[in-house]
Order: sequence, then structure tokens, then C-alpha cells
Amino acid sequence: MSPHAHITGWGMYVPERVMTNADLEKIVDTNDEWIVSRTGIRERRIASDEETTASLATEAALRALEVANLSPSDIDLIIVATSSPEHLFPATACLVQDRLGAGKAGAFDLLAACSGFIFALDMAAQAIRSGSIQNAVVIGSETLTRMLDWNDRNTCILFGDGAGAFVLQAGEDPAGVLSSVMRSDGSGGDALSIPAGGSRFPTSIETLQNGLHFLQMDGREVYRFATRVMSQVTQEAIESAHLKIEDIQLIIPHQANLRIIEAAARGLKVPLERCFINLDRYGNTSTASIPIATCEAIEQGRLKPGDKVVFVGFGAGLTWGAAVVQWSGPFPGRRKVYPARYRYYARLRSWMLRILRRLDAIIWGGLHREK
Ligand code: ACO
Repeated sequence: MSPHAHITGWGMYVPERVMTNADLEKIVDTNDEWIVSRTGIRERRIASDEETTASLATEAALRALEVANLSPSDIDLIIVATSSPEHLFPATACLVQDRLGAGKAGAFDLLAACSGFIFALDMAAQAIRSGSIQNAVVIGSETLTRMLDWNDRNTCILFGDGAGAFVLQAGEDPAGVLSSVMRSDGSGGDALSIPAGGSRFPTSIETLQNGLHFLQMDGREVYRFATRVMSQVTQEAIESAHLKIEDIQLIIPHQANLRIIEAAARGLKVPLERCFINLDRYGNTSTASIPIATCEAIEQGRLKPGDKVVFVGFGAGLTWGAAVVQWSGPFPGRRKVYPARYRYYARLRSWMLRILRRLDAIIWGGLHREK
């Protein structure tokens, strides 16, 4: 029988700096009343100059590994879902792999905007179910506030920085990720994009002058799309798990806008209390919003082992998706590991690998010259 993909660890990390709506009033022509009534957002976190997408991701992953009691050397796969990667390449996931010292892990980024965490969860679960890997770390991490035009009140009020991570492990019990649905519609790509910086519009004076490196959004279009798909895809995922909405204890939606979550709850005919909401304190953290919300739901006792939970999200692409999970918790009875200590081991390992690579180049160069 094929193994099941259990979520055995979770962790989040958000920057310390808080930006309130009152702070935003000093930057653009907006006000707290407008932002709260249209979005539900009251404050968001902003990464410091020293923090990056990989550094936030690494902190969240270490916390998730701590909960799972799994050492980085046991990780087979790292997927970082992000809309704000550090570079086009190398993948942010490879930077995280190096910082964790996860010597045997394959690592790659997944770009599906705010739906990315659900897509990554599905990919990792499928790899576990296929029997090809045992342990995966799935991370959503963002420093999207660096890609905002702080003169554009339509977008700069919405987003925040942060990271969240899950550890997935193979287990025999029939629980864990029960079903998932991924959907895309590229015909709506224009509604939400960062047009320049890739190969279509390489960086140039013109792209900079025209602000094409900033996030651009048709808010109303995205709003209409989101309210249409959120309840639909949740239903699809629940049906595909052979369950009914009554079987679901908690819905953890992508934290973009309170009104979108309210519309989804209405569409599903469930009380809003069945949806977990924390966007008032973090804004839209894109791929990180679902794992961050999950960590807080657990902390508040709203998600317990045995519960069935739906994760549902939407984003640029356009993309949308949902996953039904029977919550597991850490596997019991293993010797205690201290993943955070790997931070130092990982630094030493990375440094030695760099030196070895340099020595290799010198030796190889010498041999080449002798020929
Ligand atoms: N402060 C004050 N007024 C504002 C602000 C602001 N920050 N922003 C816009 N307004 C004004 C507009 O100029 C407009 O004025 P006008 O009527 O004089 O033209 C008025 O408020 C209404 O603007 P709308 O755009 O119609 O406002 P709406 O109610 O649609 O709310 C919002 C805008 C919050 C952006 C909403 O459309 C929304 O949430 N859309 C979805 C966005 C989203 O979730 N994006 C993330 C997707 S996930 C990802 O992949 C990154």
C-alpha cells in the first residue's frame, strides 16, 4: 500500500517591524477606516534590511523541524513557494537548503503566486505517496513589500512580509493530505503581475522609469475572480476526499481580504467562525499566509490532531487551489533532535564546500595546464 503524507511539523517567522494603517497614512493618500472596511487589514510586518526571503524561510523551516523533531540531514526535498524569490536563479530553496545543512535534499522554487503553498504541498505529498521520498519541507516565504510601489495606494496597503513552513513525512496511517486540487487560467495573467525583470522585459532604463518592476494589479478583477473560485475549489477538494463540508472542522483560507473570505464562507454556507482569519495583523503575505495562519490556529487550539482542515487560496497566474488534510501532529517516540543547532553546522559545511570547490578549481586548472 502506498504511504500517506502526514504534516508532522509547522513553523512561522515574521519580521519584528510592524507597519500600521496609521503609518501608511503618512506615506500615501489613504486612511485606517478605508483600509479596514475594504480589506480587514490593520497592520503588516516589514522585513528589515538584513532579512531576505531565504532568511525568513530558514527560520520558519527550523521551527517546523523542531516541532517534527526531524534533523535537516533527514530532509529529502525542500520546496519554497514564493512570489518574491531572492534571484531568478539560484532558487531561494537552494539557499535555504545550504543554510539548513540539508545535505541530501533536492531543492527548488515553485511560482504560483499566492496559491504557491497549496501547489507545493500537493507536489510534496505526491512525492511522498509515490514512495520516492520520506521527508519534505514545504515553505511559503515572502519579502513582497520590496516589490511594491509605495506611491500606489491600490497595492501598497495590502501586502506584508513573513514565512511559514510545514514538514511532511511518510506514514502508514490513512491521514495527512487527503486530496488537493490545482487550477490555473493564464488568460487572466494581466490582472496581477510584476511585468519586468524577466526575459520578456529585461531590466532597462525604460522598465525602471515606467515602474514595471513593481507589482501591478487590477483589484476589482482579482476580487471578482477570487470570490468566484474560493468556495468552488473548496467544494471540489472536499468531494475529491469523499467528504462533506460538515466533516470539516476548520477552513484556513489565503489571507488576502476579509470580504473575499466572507464571500467564500457564504458560498459554502458555513459560519465565518469556521474560517481562520489573522489578516488583520499580517496583511496578505502571499505564499506564507496559509502556513502562518495554520501555526496560529494550532497555538489557539483551533486545529487539533484528527481534525479535518481545508487550505484554500488564489493568486496571480491566475491560479487557485485547495487541499483537504486530516491533521496529524509530530510522529512520536524518536530521540530528541535540535535542528536549530544545525545552523552552525550548516555554516561550517557551506564554508568547507566553498573551499573544496576552490581547491578543486586550482587542481583541475593545474592538471589542465600540464597537458
Ligand atoms: N485608500 C483610500 N482610497 C482608495 C485606496 C486606498 N488605499 N485604494 C483605492 N482607493 C479608492 C479608489 O481610488 C476608488 O476611488 P474612486 O471611486 O474615486 O475611483 C475607491 O477607493 C474604490 O476603489 P476600488 O478599487 O473599487 O475598491 P475596492 O472596494 O474594489 O477595494 C481592493 C480595492 C481592496 C484592492 C479590492 O479590490 C481587493 O481586495 N481586490 C483583491 C486584491 C487581492 O486580493 N490581491 C492579491 C491577490 S494574491 C497574489 O497573487 C499576490
